[in-house]
Amino acid sequence: MTERRRGYFITFEGLDGSGKSTQMRLFAQRLRAAGHTVVETAEPGGTRIGGAIRSILLNPKNQDLSPTAEMLLYFAARAQNVDELLLPALGRGEIVLSDRWTDSTYAYQGHGRQLGTGVVVALDRVACRGHNPDLTIWVDIDLDAGLERARARNNETGATSESRMDEQEFEFYARVREGYLELERLHPGRLRRVDGSGTPDQVAERVWSAWRGFADSHV
Ligand SMILES: Nc1ncnc2c1ncn2[C@@H]1O[C@H](COP(=O)(O)OP(=O)(O)O)[C@@H](O)[C@H]1O
Ligand SMILES: [Mg+2]
Repeated sequence: MTERRRGYFITFEGLDGSGKSTQMRLFAQRLRAAGHTVVETAEPGGTRIGGAIRSILLNPKNQDLSPTAEMLLYFAARAQNVDELLLPALGRGEIVLSDRWTDSTYAYQGHGRQLGTGVVVALDRVACRGHNPDLTIWVDIDLDAGLERARARNNETGATSESRMDEQEFEFYARVREGYLELERLHPGRLRRVDGSGTPDQVAERVWSAWRGFADSHV
């Protein structure tokens, strides 16, 4: 009897501007070059319905979106992603990469918006039903450098992406980073902190060695 194939679920986490999206793109290229089939998804979104939810979450006009409604929308998009994208791809033995996942809700809504982390963990059980990342790359960068990178990017592209978050203050981001530090303490096997300073290629090398460290102990 053949064993059911199962891929890996790997998430990228960190503050806005830390370099998550850049690093996930480089990592996906390198995995593909090594012969893996890779599916990339980004939060909020990843599915048609997730995209509709994303447009509510990132619309700068929605300043009146309540913090609890915001959190539930993130989980709604995630639940759709689990059924429509994540589980089928893992079943085919593929590697799924996600730009943010529940750890972001834990850090941003649980810590940043001070909704508490207990409710995030409980909602994760409902939305994701135990389908948690195998490996999480936390691209860690200091607050000033991250905000500077995110602002430069948004000015360049004129993008509204993550702009509602970018308008929050420094204290908010300090709490978010505390949330990631807490996750690192709680899940030392899953969460690997990667120093996000230096050039994109230097960071990519650190990401790759975190993956190799994980793969050597799991594959
Ligand atoms: N190592 C790096 N050094 C300098 N700039 C970077 C680095 N990595 C990414 N950037 C730039 O900083 C901005 C934010 O990077 P991005 O990958 O979009 O971060 P995130 O997805 O975490 O918000 C982008 O304009 C990107 O090109
Ligand atoms: Mg990004």
